[in-house]
Amino acid sequence: MNIRQLTCRCLPLLLTLLFQAVSVAAQNRPVCLQCHESQTGRGGAVVKPWQGSVHAENGIGCQNCHGGDPNDPVNAMDPSRGFLGVPGETAIPSFCGRCHVGIRDEYLQSAHGRALGRGGPTCVTCHGSHDVKRATLSIINEKNCARCHAYAPAAELKNAMVQTEKRIETIDERLKVYKGEGVDTEAREKALFSTRNRYHRLFHEVDTAKVTGESAQIDAELDKIQQDFGRINAERQKRKIIGAGAVSGAFLAALFFHLLRKTYD
Ligand code: HEC
Ligand code: HEC
Ligand code: HEC
Ligand code: HEC
Ligand code: HEC
Repeated sequence: MNIRQLTCRCLPLLLTLLFQAVSVAAQNRPVCLQCHESQTGRGGAVVKPWQGSVHAENGIGCQNCHGGDPNDPVNAMDPSRGFLGVPGETAIPSFCGRCHVGIRDEYLQSAHGRALGRGGPTCVTCHGSHDVKRATLSIINEKNCARCHAYAPAAELKNAMVQTEKRIETIDERLKVYKGEGVDTEAREKALFSTRNRYHRLFHEVDTAKVTGESAQIDAELDKIQQDFGRINAERQKRKIIGAGAVSGAFLAALFFHLLRKTYD
């Protein structure tokens, strides 16, 4: 069998394998993305913003929010396959809240949630729907928050939160330095992590009095971690003194033996 015959016989097999590989690869990509990507107009316009989002980064695709069957190109958007379509304005908090349960509840109880459908903002007013980024306090600005009411209450809320945020960052940096020097910071890191989470959940209640009140409590928790820094410093000082003591002890011993040997020589 010469090389041409070999190629002729094996080519169909090779082509079949190649075809299967390509279609399996295609099957692994959700059909939602495959079809919408090639669309012009509003069906395709959402793909790019989603690709740069915190959701895409964490594996949350079209089907995780809109439902439907990501493996069946024909029935992908059939309600019998769980397709939810596009949520109306008042349905958005529960649409996003399937995954962000705690935040949904806090939002629904807030001044904003109580005004849902009557001029209050929904999740997508502040975060967007496809272009959702990691959230920071920079979302609270005059452009976003003075559209519906005065900026003053928003600014007051932000002030209270920014101060605590700065303390959290400072403490976090100190902990990193200590960790780099070999200090055991695990318990203090855990305490800081849970304090930070508690504090970040506060915003959606948009209750300035509550934020100010809780900020005092959170400050007390942060004080405790910071007081520990005094203890860490004292420990480090002690270790330095002991270290220095050990070095000078060794030096004195060497000198003593040196003199001893000289005496006997
Ligand atoms: C075979 C192509 C195709 C597939 C597969 C597909 N879509 Fe669509 N989808 C479309 C078209 C076409 C539209 C209408 C777009 C328009 O109005 O411009 C649409 C519209 C939508 C809408 C808006 C519906 C509305 O009521 O306005 C959503 C949401 C959506 N698709 C999500 C999905 C999700 C999630 C999947 C996967 C589970 C999916 N699509 C799979 C072609 C597809
Ligand atoms: C984090 C949840 C989330 C993800 C992920 C998501 N969507 Fe959406 N989508 C929404 C919400 C919420 C709306 C309604 C937006 C509004 O009312 O402002 C929407 C609206 C739409 C619309 C209607 C847009 C219009 O202009 O009318 C289409 C089409 C759509 N999505 C398709 C998709 C496709 C395709 C994907 C995947 C590439 C996707 N969505 C991923 C939440 C999501
Ligand atoms: C009025 C604007 C606004 C509305 C409405 C809003 N958010 Fe937020 N959201 C923010 C701001 C500002 C932050 C940042 C808070 C911080 O850094 O402490 C945030 C933070 C978040 C976070 C990150 C929390 C964390 O642990 O860091 C998530 C998730 C979130 N929002 C989801 C939602 C969902 C879901 C809804 C609807 C139920 C919603 N948001 C409604 C402005 C808003
Ligand atoms: C299917 C579950 C799911 C749905 C539905 C969903 N999200 Fe998320 N969201 C996630 C996951 C997972 C992350 C990334 C993990 C994390 O950091 O919380 C995330 C992250 C976020 C963040 C960044 C959190 C941070 O730490 O700053 C925001 C803001 C957010 N989502 C808002 C929304 C909004 C607004 C909607 C509705 C349009 C929505 N999400 C719908 C699962 C979901
Ligand atoms: C789509 C309109 C809209 C947007 C955008 C909006 N709000 Fe509101 N906000 C309302 C409504 C409606 C109320 C409840 C009625 C009122 O107090 O005016 C409210 C109430 C509040 C309150 C309570 C006021 C009080 O007297 O207790 C605070 C605080 C607040 N918003 C902060 C913010 C912040 C911060 C932002 C920007 C991240 C923001 N709002 C964006 C509509 C909006």
